Amino acid sequence: MIRHVSIIGTGSYLPEHIMNNDDLSRLVDTSDEWIRTRTGIGERRISVSMSTSDLAYEAGAAALRNSGLEPEDIDLIICATITPDYFMPSCACMVQDRLGAVNAAAFDLTAACTGMIYGMVTAEQFIKTGMYDNVLVIGAETLSKILDWEDRSTCVLFGDGAGAVVMSGTDRGLKLSATNLESDGSKYELLTCPAIPLDNPCVNTEFIEAETDLNEITGAEMSAQSMIKAAGQSKIRMLGQEVFKYAVRTVTDNIRVLLCKANLDIEDIAYIVPHQANQRIIEQASKTVKIPIDKFFMNLDRYGNTSAASIGIALDELVAGNMLSKGDKVILVGFGGGMTSGAVLLERT
Ligand code: UT7
Repeated sequence: MIRHVSIIGTGSYLPEHIMNNDDLSRLVDTSDEWIRTRTGIGERRISVSMSTSDLAYEAGAAALRNSGLEPEDIDLIICATITPDYFMPSCACMVQDRLGAVNAAAFDLTAACTGMIYGMVTAEQFIKTGMYDNVLVIGAETLSKILDWEDRSTCVLFGDGAGAVVMSGTDRGLKLSATNLESDGSKYELLTCPAIPLDNPCVNTEFIEAETDLNEITGAEMSAQSMIKAAGQSKIRMLGQEVFKYAVRTVTDNIRVLLCKANLDIEDIAYIVPHQANQRIIEQASKTVKIPIDKFFMNLDRYGNTSAASIGIALDELVAGNMLSKGDKVILVGFGGGMTSGAVLLERT
């Protein structure tokens, strides 16, 4: 028998330090007016001492408290992040230790800003098959450490934070009714943050340098290794307008696909919780799928884009604000680097 899967607890954590647009205008050539009109962002939280695993722990502990479960009840912890403390151990293992979730398996997952959606859908599969009963899914980021604070086109957009959900094999809570995941690796260059290039005694550095020079002269394609090397530091680079177009298209596509899978009309949906990247993306999507803008839950004016954390933080605010009634249906929809996108339909039972 196929099991129901529901979110039975939500949690979030934001670092205390607030950086507003005026603070940013003292670092780069920008203004509160430009940032607000182009993005809708007014301020964001920036971590001054807590790492990603610290934020993840706080959000995870809050979701666990709200679920009514004990740490020992958790069978699996999935942490979605592009800014882990270490390549290894995983952020999920560090959280497992601090929570005392001694019975849990734990791993990290990378789907950039769609990480929370990918995490929830992954958790759903483990629960549906009966392998696990209770899964903690966390989206956590300290994006401030991978921002180029001299690049005004990216550093004004992002913030730090964490959101989390506890998912269980029950139909009580926020029941998952339909899901959708998509990826388009052919567009991977739109949003990047390079890792470490090959570095060992056998590396043919002459080849990589020659290839990089050739690219400068001819614009020829470089191998992945040369591109990582040429990109230099691990900082976010983005082709903003292309990402914008991808975002509007995939948000609208994912909403349509979910409605079709669940055999619902847009009037049946109480709220849409989109990835919080840019108010203009959300407004454009609202016009395209003809959904009143007030159905879209937004908090990006206060937190900016927190990547994998944003949907979990927004969902927690929706739940904590008692904004959902019995029978309400909510669509979570995300998009981000990879490129990736996805959506989850929830029903408050
Ligand atoms: O999770 C996914 C993450 N990413 C996104 O969702 C980003 C999607 N893209 C966007 O949100 C928008 O493309 C941006 C907000 C990044 C940029 O807005 P835009 O309306 O596409 O601006 P633009 O790139 O066309 O730049 C317009 C002008 C340029 O100046 P010139 O060339 O016209 O003189 C930029 O240099 O605005 C300039 N500019 C800025 N000016 C003041 C870029 N960033 C800033 C800034 N302050 N922070």
